Amino acid sequence: MADEKQPPLMNGGYGPLTPPPYNQHRSRNCLCCFFKVLITLIILLGLASLISCLILRPRPLKFSVTNANLTQFNYNSDKKTLDYNLVLNFTARNPNKKLGLYYDYVEANAFYQDVWFSLIDVINWENSFRQSPKSTIEMSGVFKGQQVLFLDESQRSQFDLEKNNHGVFNIFVGLDLKIRYKLGRMTVTKSKSKAKCPIKVALSGDGKIVSPFEPIECDIDVKG
Ligand SMILES: *[C@@H]1O[C@H](CO)[C@@H](O)[C@H](O)[C@H]1NC(C)=O
Ligand SMILES: *[C@@H]1O[C@H](CO)[C@@H](O)[C@H](O)[C@H]1NC(C)=O
Repeated sequence: MADEKQPPLMNGGYGPLTPPPYNQHRSRNCLCCFFKVLITLIILLGLASLISCLILRPRPLKFSVTNANLTQFNYNSDKKTLDYNLVLNFTARNPNKKLGLYYDYVEANAFYQDVWFSLIDVINWENSFRQSPKSTIEMSGVFKGQQVLFLDESQRSQFDLEKNNHGVFNIFVGLDLKIRYKLGRMTVTKSKSKAKCPIKVALSGDGKIVSPFEPIECDIDVKG
């Protein structure tokens, strides 16, 4: 028809052309593309954190008392004082395959019959350190000194009972641990835990030979 036969005019007969609305198109495409990338990223990030949560889920450490040496444990019921000297050796096992541990601090409190008598730093900022995955480390604490202690009558008779029973004392050691779980240099999470270690330890002063200490594994409470 008429259109086919006539050679097209220079600009197709449309008169002066306005520039095609490229910019508008491009920005719409860009926005769309941006959202696609964003959504993909969010999905990938979600998957990655899900997988890392599953693989890297921090497992609490295992804590044990491996040795105890009690060379002094005297209660003076007149002065209400306890003189004590107790050396404890601990091991801490990091059961995680990928995560290292960093100890911010480990504090140990000692109790006799639920009565507190001593607090020491096992690890503090001066000697804190990293523990590699799947490894066991040793730490130790020395409780030594004199503490004013109020034992009631039944607690005093329990003390005498344990003293006369080959001097085997039931002492409770509770440790507060602040730990960071590390993947390489990155801190994955921080956690505070309590280790509860009820020990039986024989008084061994004056070169007395006592039955060897029986190692125990402590209960761990993770507080998050
Ligand atoms: C316990 O400590 C005393 C005094 O420090 C020491 O002589 C003794 O060898 C220690 N015993 C053990 C089993 O470590
Ligand atoms: C137990 O701890 C004490 C005090 O730190 C240390 O001298 C001793 O070598 C440790 N014993 C063992 C068996 O690790």
